[in-house]
Amino acid sequence: KKILVLNGPNLNLLGVREKSIYGNQSFDEYFVSLKARFSNVELSYFQSNSEGAIIDKLHEIGFDIDGIVLNAGAYTHTSVAIGDAIAAVNTPVVEVHISNVHQRESFRHHSYLSKNCKGVILGFGLDSYRLGIESLL
Ligand code: DQA
Repeated sequence: KKILVLNGPNLNLLGVREKSIYGNQSFDEYFVSLKARFSNVELSYFQSNSEGAIIDKLHEIGFDIDGIVLNAGAYTHTSVAIGDAIAAVNTPVVEVHISNVHQRESFRHHSYLSKNCKGVILGFGLDSYRLGIESLL
């Protein structure tokens, strides 16, 4: 199985940004442990801070891989275009968030993506990504 982990804006700063919310570990380090855990899966990783690059990636791989685990960061709450891109491709997308967005500011309570995703996993810290992969498998 081929699965892509797709991270949006500011998630390149995991382990550095707002540690009380997002933890101490960098995503690169965490991704090594994910690869070890799912050694039978072809796991790849892409991160971008720009909305268009995330959409391009969805178009590029969204017709031939088996699943996408997407944390679109703040674009979750603003991007009709990423929501449309998820609807446009064939590959199932699981939306994930590190934090429990429902315990946070009200502008984080709405997602433009969820409706077009297979499911949503949030609030389990970095473990949300592992659960996202498990759900696709
Ligand atoms: C996030 C939650 C978003 O509201 C926020 O903008 C992020 C990260 C999370 O993983 O908890 O950048 O998607």
